[in-house]
Amino acid sequence: MKYLILFCMVVNGVSCGLLSESNGTAADDINALTLVDLGKETRKPLLTLIGLALKNLHPCEVWSPWTRCEANARGYYGTRTRTRQCVDKRSSESNTFKNETDIGLCEGKCPFGSNITAHGFCFKLHLNTMNHDSAETFCENQGSYLINIDSAEKLEDVKNMLNGLSVHIHVDGRRATSSSPWVYKYGSQHPVINWASGQPNNNSNELLLVFFPPDNTWYDALGNGNRPFVCEVI
Ligand SMILES: *[C@@H]1O[C@H](CO)[C@@H](O)[C@H](O)[C@H]1NC(C)=O
Ligand SMILES: *[C@@H]1O[C@H](CO)[C@@H](O)[C@H](O)[C@H]1NC(C)=O
Ligand SMILES: *[C@@H]1O[C@H](CO)[C@@H](O)[C@H](O)[C@H]1NC(C)=O
Ligand SMILES: *[C@@H]1O[C@H](CO)[C@@H](O)[C@H](O)[C@H]1NC(C)=O
Repeated sequence: MKYLILFCMVVNGVSCGLLSESNGTAADDINALTLVDLGKETRKPLLTLIGLALKNLHPCEVWSPWTRCEANARGYYGTRTRTRQCVDKRSSESNTFKNETDIGLCEGKCPFGSNITAHGFCFKLHLNTMNHDSAETFCENQGSYLINIDSAEKLEDVKNMLNGLSVHIHVDGRRATSSSPWVYKYGSQHPVINWASGQPNNNSNELLLVFFPPDNTWYDALGNGNRPFVCEVI
């Protein structure tokens, strides 16, 4: 960090930021103790003094690490929180602490409870069974989609996650009649599909896709069957 610009604002206490070659990202984590350390490292006693003065002005303990990003909608943004303890100035007892919580926006590609796979996909396996429509709606209400297995990498990660689970699972894909093209809600309209032998059998009501993990094959199927399913956050 060769070029440092320190800026401070006096608004309800003092907050300082540090702009550097890291394009401003350092400002996120700067606190009085960082200045103290920096002053010592760079042998700039003035910086150390400013740091100590700030620490005394705003005697909060250091922020805890950010929590994991909680993504709520479509996976693009989420929120994260961190806390610190501060002296409660309204209290007559000098060492009454209160906890402050800070909430930040973050890139929330994978909500808590879902799994980031080896190739960076974000999946959640639901073992509670539902019919195809309900599973689709369930995923969408969580900001995800019923999974469209549309690449070899995604297939590999699905296989690893399901680990041969011996039951048919719902995946994205439906058609209007048994001779119509398959339509997918997102991703490629030409996913990797390894049909089981004799599939799709094109029975007139089998208008939905299911996946069978033990041999990683696909079937056309009735929609009213209750099955586990996998949601993907994109
Ligand atoms: C800052 O941003 C520029 C342009 O976006 C980039 O080329 C450079 O590598 C960035 N520097 C750091 C330290 O991230
Ligand atoms: C504040 O945080 C500390 C440590 O994280 C915890 O022990 C304490 O119970 C919290 N106090 C309140 C009032 O939430
Ligand atoms: C997925 O994540 C959940 C919760 O974070 C964890 O309990 C589970 O073991 C993970 N599953 C896999 C296949 O990694
Ligand atoms: C079902 O239709 C597809 C084309 O839409 C065809 O490739 C497949 O062979 C048919 N299945 C049977 C069992 O006839």
